Amino acid sequence: MSSSHAHSHGHKDAAHHGIPVITIDGPTASGKGTVAARVAQRLGFHYLDSGVLYRLVAMKLVQEGEDGANEDAAVRAAQTLEPEFLPDGRIMLSGEDVSAAIRADGIGLQASRLAVHPAVREALNVLQHRARKAPGLVADGRDMASVVFPQARLKIFLTAAAEVRACRRAKQLGLPCEGLEYQRIVADIQARDLADSRRTSAPLRQEPDAKLLDTSDLSIDETVKKVLDWYRES
Ligand code: DC
Repeated sequence: MSSSHAHSHGHKDAAHHGIPVITIDGPTASGKGTVAARVAQRLGFHYLDSGVLYRLVAMKLVQEGEDGANEDAAVRAAQTLEPEFLPDGRIMLSGEDVSAAIRADGIGLQASRLAVHPAVREALNVLQHRARKAPGLVADGRDMASVVFPQARLKIFLTAAAEVRACRRAKQLGLPCEGLEYQRIVADIQARDLADSRRTSAPLRQEPDAKLLDTSDLSIDETVKKVLDWYRES
C-alpha cells in the first residue's frame, strides 16, 4: 500500500501533522481529478474526490424527485448521504450504480448550486475528514486547503486558462476546439468559475500558502511530476 517514500517521512509526519495530506484545489475542468488520482497512486495514498460528494447530494435530490433549489431538502440529503464506494470504483447510491450519472454537466451545475449552503458543506466536511487515513491522502476540490485540511503538508492550486480547459472538455466529447459548441463550453466554464469563486461560503480561491500550478502548457505527466517533486521537497 504505502510507498517507501511515505515510510521515510512517516515519523516526521506523525510528530508534526499526523497523516500527510496533499490538497489539490482548482476550477472546473482543470484536470485536478486526473492529477490527484495519479499522485495518490504513485505515493500509495488514498484519494478523495470531494466534488463527488456534492454531485451525490444533487443525485439524491433527483432520485427523491426533490427540487435542487430547495435548501432544506439539500441539507437533509447531505446529512443522510450514505454513498457506497465499491473496490472496483463504482459508486452506489440507494442501491443504484450512479458512477456515470453523477458526471453529467447538469448534475455538476446542481452540485455547484447546493454547495453554497453552509449546512450542506458542514455535513459533507464530516465525510471528507473520514478520508484522512494512513499512509496518506490526496484530496481534490475547491476548499480542501482553506477549510477541510488547513494543516495539509502540501497545497496546490491547479488551474489553466478557461479556453484550454474548454478545449480539453471538448476533446473528451469528440468536438473541435472552435465553433459554436466550443464557445458554449467556454461560457459554461466561465459561469461555473464565477459561481464557485463568488459564493460567500468556502469560495474557490488560492490560499496564501498554496503553490500555483498553471497547466495550460503542461501535459498530465509533467503536472504529476511537478506535484511529486514538490511533495518530496516538502
Ligand atoms: O469538482 P466537481 O466539478 O466535481 O464539483 C462539482 C461542484 O461541487 C462544484 O462546481 C462546486 C462543488 N464543490 C464544492 O463546492 N467544494 C468542493 N470541495 C468540491 C466541489
